[in-house]
Amino acid sequence: MSYNFDEYIDRTGTNCAKWDHYAEQFPGMDAQDCIPMWVADTDFRAPKEVIEALVAKAQYGIYGYSRAKTKSFDEAVINWVEKRHGWKLLPEWIVPTGGVVPAITCAIQALTKEEDGIVIQPPVYYPFKDTITNNNRKVIENPLRLNEEEGQYEIDFADLEEKLKDSQVKIFILCNPHNPVGRVWEEKDLRKIGELCLKYNVLIFADEIHGDLILPGYKHIPMGLLNKEIRDITITSYSPSKTFNLAGLQASAMVIPNEKLRLEYQKRLRINRMTELNYFATTALEAAYNHGEEYLEGFLEYISGNIAYAIDFVDKHLPGVRIIKPQGTYLVWFDFRGTGLTPDEIDSLIIEKAKVAVDLGRWFGKEGAGFARFNFACHRSTLVKALNQLKAAL
Ligand SMILES: Cc1ncc(COP(=O)(O)O)c(C=O)c1O
Repeated sequence: MSYNFDEYIDRTGTNCAKWDHYAEQFPGMDAQDCIPMWVADTDFRAPKEVIEALVAKAQYGIYGYSRAKTKSFDEAVINWVEKRHGWKLLPEWIVPTGGVVPAITCAIQALTKEEDGIVIQPPVYYPFKDTITNNNRKVIENPLRLNEEEGQYEIDFADLEEKLKDSQVKIFILCNPHNPVGRVWEEKDLRKIGELCLKYNVLIFADEIHGDLILPGYKHIPMGLLNKEIRDITITSYSPSKTFNLAGLQASAMVIPNEKLRLEYQKRLRINRMTELNYFATTALEAAYNHGEEYLEGFLEYISGNIAYAIDFVDKHLPGVRIIKPQGTYLVWFDFRGTGLTPDEIDSLIIEKAKVAVDLGRWFGKEGAGFARFNFACHRSTLVKALNQLKAAL
């Protein structure tokens, strides 16, 4: 393999959010002894083909206006989604956007009115809630249920149906794979969601940004692949930013097969002046999608190794703690409730005593109290150090 993920890269001093700015999030933490395992980017270099393409573009030296939607952009997205997920897209369905969260905001603005309801499934990626409330829409929650025996989260479909029934509800935001609980939703789950949304005239925003990050034994199924009816009420987001560590370039592609929805969406992009991407973003997306398969395989292998190491360590050395075994993503959801500590004590154990900067469970919704999300896209030595600090703190 020509990629070595087992190389420690020092990111400090590069103005990176994860390593240089965590004190803004965790006041009082000191860069000398804190281990940052929060924010979802990776501590690995992007694929060499991406770096080479960006260097070539930088060297050209003219950084004027460009166009995001080109034949080469569409082809890169089409080929990648077909190769990895078996869904054959048409070029006209693809709408480039500068990041997924701005794209969700745009969908909310384009397709709902103030006071409309939008359903999310906490514990879930917290910016979903912000995009809803910042636009004066209502957050409607369909909390996931932790099946304690299986150690996995499930969807409460009876509650979902109750929530979707409300005529004010206009969009359901799906997170697949689910951040932070790591579920890769099965076809039967997706079908039920799709059928309920069809029944109650609710659109689906399928955030599949983590869709490439599927661990062995699981399979990502695009929502839009299920059938034409479901496809026609779905907007799907794809992006190379998590897979290839390109989050700072803000490159993503929305897939909107339904023409009417697409025209509404594009109209809002124009109003917001969001139709074009950064000059470097499209280059990075194309290089990653055209050349990234070998990188992705190596990356998944390294992450799987980190997960296996941590599961074994937690089992042996962290009594009362358990890992909700992820099926996808590099984000790992730790359950600390078995320690007998209160949620406040758990937060302070991780942050103040162990000095590991994580995304605290309660950020993802009240259901997350007593949990924490660890980012495993790091060098093994970072993980080992963090786990040992947790052990000492406990
Ligand atoms: C589910 C999910 N959606 C969107 C994003 C962010 O996407 P972007 O940086 O393209 O706005 C993240 C980042 O962690 C995420 O986990």
